[in-house]
Formats: sequence, C-alpha cells, structure tokens
Amino acid sequence: MTQGPLTTEAGAPVADNQNSETAGIGGPVLVQDQLLLEKLAHFNRERIPERVVHARGAGAYGTFTVTADVTPYTRARFLSEIGKETEVFLRFSTVAGNLGAADAVRDPRGFAVKFYTEEGNYDLVGNNTPVFFIKDAIKFPDFIHTQKRDPYTGSQEADNVWDFWSLSPESTHQVTWLFGDRGIPASYRHMDGFGSHTFQWNNEAGEVFWVKYHFKTDQGIKNLTQAEANKLAGEDPDSHQRDLRQSIERGEYPSWTVGVQIMPAADAATYRFNPFDLTKVWPHADYPIHWFGKMELNRNPENVFAEVEQSIFSPAHFVPGIGPSPDKMLQGRLFAYGDAHRYRVGINADHLPVNRPHATEARTNSRDGYLYDGRHKGAKNYEPNSFGGPHQTDRPLWQPVPVTGVTGDHAAPVHAEDNDFVQAGNLYRLMTEDEKNRLIENLAGSISQVSREDIVDRAINNFRQADGDFGKRLEAAVQALRG
Ligand code: HEM
Repeated sequence: MTQGPLTTEAGAPVADNQNSETAGIGGPVLVQDQLLLEKLAHFNRERIPERVVHARGAGAYGTFTVTADVTPYTRARFLSEIGKETEVFLRFSTVAGNLGAADAVRDPRGFAVKFYTEEGNYDLVGNNTPVFFIKDAIKFPDFIHTQKRDPYTGSQEADNVWDFWSLSPESTHQVTWLFGDRGIPASYRHMDGFGSHTFQWNNEAGEVFWVKYHFKTDQGIKNLTQAEANKLAGEDPDSHQRDLRQSIERGEYPSWTVGVQIMPAADAATYRFNPFDLTKVWPHADYPIHWFGKMELNRNPENVFAEVEQSIFSPAHFVPGIGPSPDKMLQGRLFAYGDAHRYRVGINADHLPVNRPHATEARTNSRDGYLYDGRHKGAKNYEPNSFGGPHQTDRPLWQPVPVTGVTGDHAAPVHAEDNDFVQAGNLYRLMTEDEKNRLIENLAGSISQVSREDIVDRAINNFRQADGDFGKRLEAAVQALRG
C-alpha cells in the first residue's frame, strides 16, 4: 500500500480516527460521522460463512514437477513431459472442528491440491486417509451431523458418533485407521495425502485407466499420541498452521512424492471387490504405485483471508485426460463443492486471484453477479457467435463409461469380496503389538463415553467381525473403563 494519509473507503482523508463526532463536548454522536458508521458497518461484515466441514485449515503455494512418464495413461498436458513444472496451491485442514478449533485433534486431515495447469485448474480434493467412513453421498449430511455439535447439548456427543458408526458398518475400516497412530499427525508436513477416490485417466488413444493418487511425505510420518495431542491442543491450538508457515519461512520446504495406482479399465468389472468403493484400498500387490512426480510447498500466502479462507477447491475441476469414476461418493461431491462455493464465497469466487487459472485464462459467457469485475469488457456474451468469441472443442475431458440396467436407489454392484470388515481386519493384523495396544486404548477411551449399552455392544461387534482378537481386547478395555 502506498504511503499517505489514512482515508475513508471512498479515499477521502481522515482527520481524526480516535474520537467520533459529537454534538458538543460529551454530547451524543452525530449521524454525519460517516467514518464511524463506515467502520462499524464494515466490521460487522468481516466474516463469511465458514466451510460446513474442513473449516479449520492452512494453505501454501508450491510447485509440482513431473519425474516419470505417464503419457501412456493420461493426455493431461501438465503431466506430458519429465521435468515439467506446474504451480500448485495446497490447503490442509481438519474436518469436524469450527474455524477456531485446535489443530492437534483426532480427525482426518484434508489435503486439497489445486494444480494451475495450462488447460485450466485441476483440483484434487483429498484427505490424509486412503479410505472414508461411508460410500454413498446420501449419507454424508447425516454422518457430519454426528461429528458436529448436537442440536440440544451444543457439544460433540460420543453417543451420536458411535450410534452412526455402529449402524454404518462400512465405517469400520476408516475408524480403525482413525483411532490408530496416524489418527493424529504431528503436523501437516508429516503425513501422506491421498486422492482417496478412484478417478479416470485417459490417454491420447482414448484408452481408459482407473487410478488412485498417493502423496508420500518426504519428511517422514510423525504422529502424536492422544496424551501428547491433548497437551499441545491446549498449549498451541494453531500448532499445525504455525508449523507449516514457519517451516516455509525457514526455507525448509515440505515435499511429497506423488504416484498413482493404475487399473486398466477392463479389470474393474471382475476385480475382487468394487474398485469404486471409497471404504476400500487397492492392495499394492494387485496394483503397485507408479511414482511420477514431486510436489514442494515453498511460498506462504500473503493474506490468510484472501488466499486461504476464500480459496475454493472442487472435485469437479478436471482437465483434459482426467475425469470422475462412478464412485457414488465422488458423484455427490461433484455437485456439493461448487454449490458450497456459490453460497460461501459468491458467484464470482472463481475470479479471485487464488482461484482463477494462473497458466491460462477462463473464457466463459457467464457475466455479472455480485462483485463482477468487468473483466470481459465489451465482448459478446453468447455462443455460437460470429465475433471471434470462444468456441467449444467437441472433445470431452474424459471418456464415456458403459452402464446397464434401470434407474433406482441401487446399492453398488456386487463383487466377490465386497465386505465391510476384511480390510479393517487386515489393517489391525498389520499392526505391531504396541500399535494394537494404542488403538485399543484410543477406541476404548472414546466408546466408554457412550451412554447406551446397545450402542456400545454394536460398536464392539463391528470390530469383532473385523478380527476376533480385536473385538475381544476392545470389549475388555471398554469394560475396564466403564467399571
Ligand atoms: C470440504 C462436502 C466427502 C475432502 C467440503 C465442503 C463441502 C464438502 C460442502 C466445503 C467446501 C467449501 O465450502 O469450500 C462433501 C460431501 C462429501 C464429502 C458432500 C461426500 C459425499 C469428502 C471426501 C474427502 C473430502 C471423501 C476426501 C477424500 C474435503 C476437503 C475439503 C472438503 C479436503 C476442504 C477443501 C478446502 O480446503 O477448501 N466437503 N465432502 N470430502 N472436503 Fe468434502
């Protein structure tokens, strides 16, 4: 900002910013004190709605670099050459807490990456977990209601959390993950990221591949125990946010090695389980990770509200060569985010510097609305037109997929090993004895706060179905705590 006198919003110099204008000394304040009215009115409007989930977060800019050839699988231009660099903006977050909540809590972490590519912005709006609690978007509002504040008590309630999870056995895998060691990362730098869903890649020849993204932290995984987190959350609620900003200020740029698991399209129908089920991982023995990139964060935002709070990420922001899969959760998300942005930031949210394309320009016929900046000047606002306006390409970003059957509220197609418990059991059996002990202790600590026996029994029973030993030890630990 240039030097000079303080001004009103309209640019007029301000004579006195300490005393409001009154009728005589000690008299009432005058309506003609426009500076006072303007300041109070602007202050009242400083907040915008916080994100309904993932309200609490921190962001940074950086660079994505291609390190291996993936052109046999996708025609996305930003991935077309080894060594090619693309600017990124990443927003990390927790899920359930409000804007002012502490960072060091047991909760998944959001891992939302915006790639500013020359073919438009590509958003990968993932988490630090490879799976999720549910597999159909229609359950998401109910699920989140159980994670947020109860309408009567105004607090998060263990009864609601465990009632929903125990009645949604598909959550068992993610809940086992969440209450294990990785459930509370030490910082945003010390955790992996995942696209979680299955996405479509398609190449120049039009061949389709199903992929799952992995971002492996180069800082190494570091976690907090429940006791460490409780202490840190009290002492420094902003611990993750501060750590990210300060590490970048020190020149210690966090980075991630980026890869995909690749499934040829033809495998999907006959795979052991539904490959579009968000509660399942694809075992690496079936589909190994192809590492193809490096992502480094090296620049802090200059203004948190402008660049982090007003940033928008949408799973529907694809570029040529990348598209959605039939994952029912992903399909719901394709609607939810754009809708949230229009409500939270406004119809011209895409025009803000953090959100607009950086390596190309948006050429649409959308116009006007709140805070429209007139960027299109006098250009025609319809298509087709004969005035040299932008025109359609006739080439979809992604390839069509075959479908069969009739409309209906169908469950997903059935595969031989579709099962809510197998992968939760596998995860438990992979753990060392110490890891199992901490998992049981964390789960028991939470379940023992539930007020109703039927919910407790149902919750434990889900873990018993994942692994008999898991269920037995959890039951004993809960009983010990409940006395
Ligand atoms: C944020 C909806 C599942 C990751 C949000 C927001 C909404 C939403 C409305 C706030 C957006 C905003 O105000 O800008 C949903 C729905 C889901 C779902 C309806 C299920 C059908 C998921 C899953 C993941 C995820 C499975 C990860 C794999 C995120 C992240 C953010 C977010 C990272 C924060 C983005 C940012 O930093 O701005 N979600 N979500 N969500 N969601 Fe989801």
